[in-house]
Amino acid sequence: MPEQKSNEISRDQLAELLNEDLSREYQAIIAYVVYSQVLKGAQYMDIASQLEIHAKQELDHALILSRQIDYLGKMPVVTPKAVRTSENARDMLRYDLDNENETIRNYRERIPQCEALGEYAMAEQIREILVQEQDHQIDLATALGEDVPNVSAGPKGRSLRKRR
Ligand SMILES: [Fe+2]
Ligand SMILES: [Fe+2]
Repeated sequence: MPEQKSNEISRDQLAELLNEDLSREYQAIIAYVVYSQVLKGAQYMDIASQLEIHAKQELDHALILSRQIDYLGKMPVVTPKAVRTSENARDMLRYDLDNENETIRNYRERIPQCEALGEYAMAEQIREILVQEQDHQIDLATALGEDVPNVSAGPKGRSLRKRR
């Protein structure tokens, strides 16, 4: 076997996958906007302010993806993936963590897919997004008092902290 066949996709398929990523970014924006404001209790004050920062970073990610989708000649989607809600603080953080895990899994696939098409700059931009998603994952796992989940067999998900 020469190369991983799964990385070999067309530009149209890449645009479709980036549109899926964009739907997940919209979902993240909505969840973080709402959860950051409704999380109550002294023990959640720190994470609530972190979620506000996440919301703004997810908007940056959505803008970057929209630009790439347009560059590939496709129309960026306008529909978020469904956002789950709960009255319970731990549930909210759990939903966020699940979504970040799914997002990270996808971006780890997207980087080699971009590179297989010779789109190295695009791969680099997704790498930068991935670094922030991994920070989100760490913030959420920490707030839940859990270890950071290993969502792939790839390199460990930890990045250097740049905030706080
Ligand atoms: Fe994001
Ligand atoms: Fe995120």
